[in-house]
Amino acid sequence: MTLKIALTKGRTEKQVLPLLAQAGMDVEPIRNKGRRLIFNDDPKYHTILAKGPDVLTYLNRGAMDIGIVGSDILDEQRNPQYDMLDLRTGRCRFVLASTANFDPGQTRRKIIATKYPNITQDYFATIGEDVEIIKIEGSVELAPLVGLADAIVDIVETGTTLRENHLQVFAELRPVSTHLVVNRLALKQKQVEIQTLIQNLQKAIQED
Ligand code: PRP
Repeated sequence: MTLKIALTKGRTEKQVLPLLAQAGMDVEPIRNKGRRLIFNDDPKYHTILAKGPDVLTYLNRGAMDIGIVGSDILDEQRNPQYDMLDLRTGRCRFVLASTANFDPGQTRRKIIATKYPNITQDYFATIGEDVEIIKIEGSVELAPLVGLADAIVDIVETGTTLRENHLQVFAELRPVSTHLVVNRLALKQKQVEIQTLIQNLQKAIQED
């Protein structure tokens, strides 16, 4: 049976394609894709390229069997599908960051800007703090610089964005990496194909 795979396009796609190739998939059509978003040439694997949060929508609605997506999105959306494998690529981390004069012990209720309100809420709940959260769509680092928020919760990979905007880390929240998730029904119906792909990917990860 054909496995339908939703792959997060962009950075995740580039990091995961070598692993998928090692696991036996012909990834050349994706490498040379131009503006194409769907790849049905291989009878074993049909692949689509989608934005991370949309990968889970396709999976949750049963339009796709397998999703390859960052754990940041899985955690933020509290994904109910099966998280089967950590692909150990796309590694980065969530941090609380701000300007040097930020006081984590300030008594006034903090305002936190983030693309990830649920992860932010969870973090402050675990340390017993009630904060106001402002949802931002990108370039979150701007928020403390212009007085929109006291601090941000965001992803750090190399640390360059924080450094170049004179922000520093005040707390480490949780790690992030790319995961393979499976639709519950697909796992029953295509068990052999899914397990084979996972085993091949596990081998590819170990060889890396
Ligand atoms: C992400 C993240 C940081 C940056 C961190 O943003 O939100 O801004 O990467 O990477 P670094 O530590 O290597 O500098 P992204 O590039 O996805 O764009 P965005 O700001 O539009 O979300």
